[in-house]
Amino acid sequence: MTPLVGFVLAPDPEWLGLIRPLIPRVELFVVTPETLWKPAQDDLRANSYHREFLELRQFTGRPFAAHSVAMSPGSPTSPRRDIWLRRMREDQALFSFAWWTDHHGVTELHGRNHALPRPLIPSDGAVDLARKTLDEMASVVPLVGLETSWFAQLGSSATEEARFLRDCTASHGVLLDLHNLWAMATNLRFDIAAYLEALGLERVIEIHVSGGRAARDGTRLDSHDTAVPEPVFQLLEQVAPRCPALRAITLERFERTVGPEDIPVLAGELDRIRAVSRRCETGSLPDAEPRPVSPGPTATPPMSRLEEGLIAKLRFERLIQGDDEAHDLFDRDPQRFVALFRRYDLEIAGRAWFPNQEGQLWRAWRARHP
Ligand SMILES: [Fe+2]
Repeated sequence: MTPLVGFVLAPDPEWLGLIRPLIPRVELFVVTPETLWKPAQDDLRANSYHREFLELRQFTGRPFAAHSVAMSPGSPTSPRRDIWLRRMREDQALFSFAWWTDHHGVTELHGRNHALPRPLIPSDGAVDLARKTLDEMASVVPLVGLETSWFAQLGSSATEEARFLRDCTASHGVLLDLHNLWAMATNLRFDIAAYLEALGLERVIEIHVSGGRAARDGTRLDSHDTAVPEPVFQLLEQVAPRCPALRAITLERFERTVGPEDIPVLAGELDRIRAVSRRCETGSLPDAEPRPVSPGPTATPPMSRLEEGLIAKLRFERLIQGDDEAHDLFDRDPQRFVALFRRYDLEIAGRAWFPNQEGQLWRAWRARHP
């Protein structure tokens, strides 16, 4: 078989309207399942994008894959996991996801939502936790995997990190994000070939490509907001034919980063991905021996200022969507809003996963800080 040309769907009406002409080029749609839900007491219900994407699936007849950010495979405990797995089971019956991936690292630790995957310090305990999470995910969608994640810093050296991911995914798949890897290698100055050698390519089921910008301090961000840089395409051309179990090459581009002028660029990128995929001939994943699971401690390295800033930014975005008063105050008096938000973020642990949950926390805090 040849790998499919994938495209990640963003839950945003303007973005969806703009990318419509690209749909005939897409052979696999990728969705972030939690963006299709809204919380309702102890349950998760479908939101309007859920309906829209399901219609797209029925209309095009093309397969879908799930790519989540919140399963947090390194988390020792996660009270919400059962609820999320239950919801995924319902969605699997509707979407028949071809596979389900999440990110290497943790997005939740001690109940706190970091929103961004944070690195782990490699340990047997962390490997076992990741395997246990993947096994739970595979009880819902049979083929699952973990993505190489963008980290501002690592919990170990790059090759140790790659070996760690390889251990975590010994019975499952790997999602290799090439922009992510290129950005990380540029920031942390490591050798991409050595990383790929340590990771091994035999379990790579999907490749992501995207673009990104540099932060003010020069750090390259995996921000999915620009065209795919040429070095990433060159990397794709070299690496994809070496992945014997590759099922898709997927383009990522975030909402609010696309204008009409970007559509021909995105069309060209999808065409180039297709040309690469047609040069690949792939088969099935090799068998692997699962090892017994014995959960142990998980540790993350201290957070960098860049990570703290990015996590606060994601929280700010959740809040603006989840509370009208916060939204209006930010529009009217951004300085006052920022001062209030800083205090709120310091005083209230980030435990919300959805905008309306963040809005509730904010309103309770504001009632004490009028
Ligand atoms: Fe990615």
